Amino acid sequence: TKHLLGIKNITESDIQLIFETADNFKDVLNRPIKKVPSLRDITIANVFFENSTRTKLSFELAEKRLSADVVNFASSSSSVKKGETLIDTVNNILAMKVDMVVMRHSSPGAPHFLSRNIKANIINAGDGTHEHPTQALLDAFSIREKLGDVAGKKVAIIGDILHSRVALSNIFCLQKLGAEVKVCGPITLLPKYIESLGVQVELDVKKALEWCDVANVLRIQLERQQIKYFPSLREYSLYYGINKKLLSQIDKEIVIMHPGPINRGVELNSDVADSEHSIILQQVENGVAIRMAVLYLLAGVK
Ligand code: CP
Repeated sequence: TKHLLGIKNITESDIQLIFETADNFKDVLNRPIKKVPSLRDITIANVFFENSTRTKLSFELAEKRLSADVVNFASSSSSVKKGETLIDTVNNILAMKVDMVVMRHSSPGAPHFLSRNIKANIINAGDGTHEHPTQALLDAFSIREKLGDVAGKKVAIIGDILHSRVALSNIFCLQKLGAEVKVCGPITLLPKYIESLGVQVELDVKKALEWCDVANVLRIQLERQQIKYFPSLREYSLYYGINKKLLSQIDKEIVIMHPGPINRGVELNSDVADSEHSIILQQVENGVAIRMAVLYLLAGVK
């Protein structure tokens, strides 16, 4: 395929190829000279219509490590503010001879729409509440690194599942790789269709933790909520917040993950986020190698 729009439409062997390529790039990133010439003739635009720290910086670093030329676009300081459309914006960027577009947008399906209307390769860096494919790839890659394999592992995704593109892409990715997935959160934050995806639902966070090998903890996404939030953040943290005291009641070692940004003291306390259980910063580190692999593999497909 020419684009990476989501995990739903790629295969297990595509994912394994991305992992094997990322293994090689991770070795490169651990060398004193971290740069390779692979994308020397490629120009990439990072087009962000929504805020980002990790995804934007790690795509930019991945592109620079591959020797691509890079331009960055943030809608907040662009002519989008004067009323320019998405397609005009991207076509104007492409007129400057850009080969690949990495795009984050608040509307689900925005990169899919673009892929039907423009010539460049497109990588979805998060489209609203829909998918965040490179996050799911780096999450599964980090589980594989920590536990040896993803197949057969039990992964609980805990938090605001309803508004989370990370949850959906993780579910598709983990299932394709043979993991068992359970989602956990208050009923108001679980989408009605969730069981149709073949995941189990658990409303009790302690039971979810007792069941899992890995807990991927998600942020409450207040910015995506149209109605007054229920439960409140204080109630959420009381009933679903993960802290050291709760983990000490579980009779096994659990790997704690979080895609970031963390709302410390809400879904995750610092005594867990910064503990030996957490692989949160390893996830961020792996994000660069995964994004290098995706860019490298797509660059060859016109
Ligand atoms: N995990 C993630 O997508 O973080 P950013 O929003 O900071 O990119």
